Amino acid sequence: MTDRLSRRGFLDLSLALPFAILPCRLTAAPSADFIPDIEFDLTAQPARSQILPGDPTSVWSYKGVLRKGRAGTLTESGTYLGPLVRVRRGDKVRVRFQNQLSEATIVHWHGVDLPESADGHPRLVIPPGEIYVYEFEVINRAGQYFYHPHPHERTGSEVYRGLAGLFIVEDDEERSLGLPFGDHEIPVVLQDRRFDSANQFLYLNNRMEAMTGFVGDRVLINGAASRSLSLGTGVYRLRFLNGSNSRIYKLAWSNGLPFTVIGTDGGLLERSVQKPYLTLGPAQRADTILDLTAQPQGSSLQLKSISFPAAAMQMMGGGMGRMIRTALPQGAEFDVLRVGVDKREHSRFELPPRLADAGFLNPRDAENAGRPHSFSLSFRRMQWFLNGSTFDMMRVKDNEIFRAGSLRMIEFRNEAMGMMGLIHPIHIHGRHFQVMGRFGTPFSSELAAALSEGIIDEGWRDTVLVLPGETVRLLVRFSDYKGLFLYHCHSLEHEDMGMMRNFRLT
Ligand code: C2O
Ligand code: CU
Ligand code: CU
Repeated sequence: MTDRLSRRGFLDLSLALPFAILPCRLTAAPSADFIPDIEFDLTAQPARSQILPGDPTSVWSYKGVLRKGRAGTLTESGTYLGPLVRVRRGDKVRVRFQNQLSEATIVHWHGVDLPESADGHPRLVIPPGEIYVYEFEVINRAGQYFYHPHPHERTGSEVYRGLAGLFIVEDDEERSLGLPFGDHEIPVVLQDRRFDSANQFLYLNNRMEAMTGFVGDRVLINGAASRSLSLGTGVYRLRFLNGSNSRIYKLAWSNGLPFTVIGTDGGLLERSVQKPYLTLGPAQRADTILDLTAQPQGSSLQLKSISFPAAAMQMMGGGMGRMIRTALPQGAEFDVLRVGVDKREHSRFELPPRLADAGFLNPRDAENAGRPHSFSLSFRRMQWFLNGSTFDMMRVKDNEIFRAGSLRMIEFRNEAMGMMGLIHPIHIHGRHFQVMGRFGTPFSSELAAALSEGIIDEGWRDTVLVLPGETVRLLVRFSDYKGLFLYHCHSLEHEDMGMMRNFRLT
């Protein structure tokens, strides 16, 4: 990337040195019969990042070192974000993850279909100084996945301090399309933060903020405060990830330019779709084509997050809402990214009408066709619940056991109303799912009307927004890997409060 985004940040890893003398005990040994194509070290460690002018910000950051594999497998972000990992479908990957933090952690590869031992379940956390070895084969389709910590009750704060990175999978099908690449392929990771007067991150003030989901008052792009991009009159691939803890974005171009969406969480769509704006919940990805060939050189475009009516509890104002002090509440409008069309370019890319064979499945083939397994999202006594319960490290209920590889209809019912009528981004580990339909009457028709057109239900997803009052029906093809996996709300404060459950594949 030659844009200004990636160069602006500056990461100082010197803080990590005192931790390097911690004894390193291997918690899972590499296996002799696994021959990796790609091998890298990944270390979670404290660091300092120059985000704002003045004092650097103390962050936690993933640092990567490639031991084996193609050059270009790891790209340093230049900010607190971890290295961008780029692999190919079919690669065998070994990661030696080392914890150099002051607390337990574990890495989860979000959206990647992995054996239980590599999925980063919170019971697998390692204490400071230890190493966890991941070994897996990449079976996912080409797409933009990501990695982040997953310790119980600490995911929100660890991600917030800076632990996250992109994991991009490529495959032959995608390559045959000749999509924009190199400095024309631009990942855009959206995260919001709050800073104190010494430029340090501020996180939760109180339980009320955890209940509504934390939102910051300053948006960072790829870990940097600079929010402008210098492009040319060409065709670009903008690959969005909402890496925020709880903020939902309603992305729109100020000149009304629609988005051309070519992919979502689980890779390319069969055909591109046009959206007037993009509704992007935490953990969701949108792969888009931005065609600037008709824009005059010297012009600029402003990407905004435009306003939508959030739940009463998330707004500034009376009652308990006053406990949430932010200049930028959920649903507020703000500028995200300025794109300058600065140079002349002769780009010849044309989007093919057919992008990929997404391999969609037929809902009639589900083992429980017509009788979906139903899971509630609910709120009582200051606590969020999933399937009527909170997280229990080892336990599963009878309705949380499925046969590995089976095809099921599953629905999530968002029952929390009134002040706590929040949108929940629900995530299922392992394979992706198709969104088959949205039912019920949203409690807030204004909210539904404000966000619906930007929701991408086409294609494979691993995280779906469930609006208050709504029931979302999914066709889930479970992973072939047996074991204990998670499903949860990806509002990280809700997840940490226990809005997470295990399911077991047998
Ligand atoms: Cu991105 Cu279980 O999470
Ligand atoms: Cu995940
Ligand atoms: Cu939630």
